Amino acid sequence: MSLLKEQIERILHACKEAFSQAGTIDELERVRIMFIGRQGHFANLTDQLKGVPYDEKKVCGPLLSVAKSEAHELYEHSKQRIANDAVRANQEREQYFDVSAYTPGIMRGSLHVYTRLIEQLEDIFISMGYDIASGPELETEYNNFIALNIPEDHPARDMQDTFWTNVPGMLLRTQTSAVQVREMKQRGAPIAIFAPGRVYRNEQIDATHESVFTQGEGLVVDKGISLSHMLATVRMFLQAAFEDTTLNTRVRPGYFPFVEPGLEVDISCPFCSTGTHTKGCAVCKRTGWIELMGSGLVHPHVLRSCNIDPEVYSGFAFGFGIERMAMIKYGINDIRLFHASSIDFLTQF
Ligand code: PHE
Repeated sequence: MSLLKEQIERILHACKEAFSQAGTIDELERVRIMFIGRQGHFANLTDQLKGVPYDEKKVCGPLLSVAKSEAHELYEHSKQRIANDAVRANQEREQYFDVSAYTPGIMRGSLHVYTRLIEQLEDIFISMGYDIASGPELETEYNNFIALNIPEDHPARDMQDTFWTNVPGMLLRTQTSAVQVREMKQRGAPIAIFAPGRVYRNEQIDATHESVFTQGEGLVVDKGISLSHMLATVRMFLQAAFEDTTLNTRVRPGYFPFVEPGLEVDISCPFCSTGTHTKGCAVCKRTGWIELMGSGLVHPHVLRSCNIDPEVYSGFAFGFGIERMAMIKYGINDIRLFHASSIDFLTQF
């Protein structure tokens, strides 16, 4: 048998194999170029045909032309097959498309750490019979200061650097205590509320100070309310908030114009104190105590500005920073992390 004839058969065979194995349009195109392309195997055979003796040409010529058209048919056929396969695969995918399938690499949203803490705190107060209250962040000077016994020019105004607006008498509230005033004016006594909310202070920002932060405010007004009610409530609340029944509290005198007496509430350091035993660590500056809240009995002036008779009613109030509580509870060392939108930080909670 002539060498050329053998080559034609071998190449046709290889060509059949390659076309039938091509699974994608790209693969098919590579096979097409290799065999029936302008410089492919068949073009090469055509060149060789020119150089062989007449007898061999007579046999190989028709053979090659049949092989070539077979190769072209194979190509068309494979193209159709690949297209059909793609349509079928698509149909199958649509048919079995599972909307609930797990998709790796997609991050799910979650509640912000202090949204979650606020919900926990609200649950605690609801379980103690309190209502949850809120008020606007844009407040009147009256609700934020004057009704709270902080008249204009009172030095206590310097305790809270205020963002004033260009509308006279309107400010960004510096404390959730403004909500006390709204609620007492609107609902009168008896009243028991917890008001978490955002507050604003024109502060130098550092690891423990933010100009936008969140406070929680508690208020109870009823007949015969005394400091002992407050001390028990605050301790119970803090033990529930820190999920630690051995958490201890202590109070020191503190000044807030809207309470009398005013008290600072400290908690036993959750990092180094158990019950009454204290080791002292860096967080509590070796004292075993951490300052957490302001509190006191509602000043008679405040009750009066809210149309509640201080001869009949008395009450207590307390307020604290929710970020500060979260920092102690979760061991967060920089308040700026709360607003930093860092995925690494947020996904830890
Ligand atoms: N509003 C006070 C502050 O922001 C905290 C406080 C609330 C103190 C209620 C006493 C009673 O510092």
